[in-house]
Amino acid sequence: MRTGGEILELGAGTGRMAAALLAELAAQGVLPERYTILEVSADLAARQRECLARLPQGLRERVVWLERLPEQPLRGVILANEVADALPCRRFRLDAGGITELGVVLDAVSEEPGAGSQPIHFRDGAVAADASLACACNEILAGLPGPLPRGYTSEVCLRLAPWIATLSACLARGLLLISDYGLPRRHYCHPQRVSGTLRCHYRHLAHDDPYINLGVQDITAWVDFTRVADAALAAGLEVSGFATQAAFLLGLGVEGLVTEAGADIERIRLAAEARRLIMPEEMGEAFKMMALGRDLDLPLAGFALQDLRHLL
Ligand SMILES: C[S@@+](CC[C@H](N)C(=O)[O-])C[C@H]1O[C@@H](n2cnc3c(N)ncnc32)[C@H](O)[C@@H]1O
Repeated sequence: MRTGGEILELGAGTGRMAAALLAELAAQGVLPERYTILEVSADLAARQRECLARLPQGLRERVVWLERLPEQPLRGVILANEVADALPCRRFRLDAGGITELGVVLDAVSEEPGAGSQPIHFRDGAVAADASLACACNEILAGLPGPLPRGYTSEVCLRLAPWIATLSACLARGLLLISDYGLPRRHYCHPQRVSGTLRCHYRHLAHDDPYINLGVQDITAWVDFTRVADAALAAGLEVSGFATQAAFLLGLGVEGLVTEAGADIERIRLAAEARRLIMPEEMGEAFKMMALGRDLDLPLAGFALQDLRHLL
């Protein structure tokens, strides 16, 4: 309410988070007049409509889908949960001859593919990095405490800065909350992380082969939160908080939600869910929360327990 009260969710996936948020905001008596969703995938927008149609009318009628960012800057909160890691990234490798970009080349086309096998096969193809990629990589290398080993492979998302700048232009006052798998730069580009962070997800299985399940698997790369913070500062936003998901949820009192649940069975279910979100080997450490603010001087409870901004 103190930010202005509007909500814009970017890339709402299945719509489950929007449904849960609207129900909770209603329970707290702070429903926004409109809950806007910007979704680039027509398929997902249809799934969101289906999911949100199950909400009580007083909630579902507040949801509005946008095809582009609003022209009038908003006062409120912009949410981007697992969206930044879906932005296309560039893969690079540090070779003896310089910085190489890893692209995709056609490997083979099977004339008569066997049942269940792919007719088209791709593989990595290496070319010398172009000027924009080389410049970004050199900037990264220059800022690290030491050199990286030859053959070191990683990713850089050159779309992050323009994305943040566009979102900043949409925010008159309030917060942009980015939650994603990610790391500050010095951990992202640690010499031991030799093969980067590119990961594929298909039917709840995670692996690192982007050349299978063509067209149906989710391909992501972790977010370099130092790049996000630099872009935010350049766009006139403040980095108001940066914490692991575990610290964020504990700061917001997730334990209380579990212990206050009435029936034993519900408590056990919630405890298992909370554990997955909080335990370091699950999503607690790798998943981060970053708050970027404009014209806002409020204590943010989710960032009260931990401040990782010094790592950026
Ligand atoms: C993993 S889903 C997000 C899940 C959802 N936010 C949630 O909390 O359940 C990724 C979302 O990012 C959106 N997305 C993917 N690439 C995008 C891009 N280039 N620009 C904007 N949104 C994008 C997808 O359409 C999808 O809704």
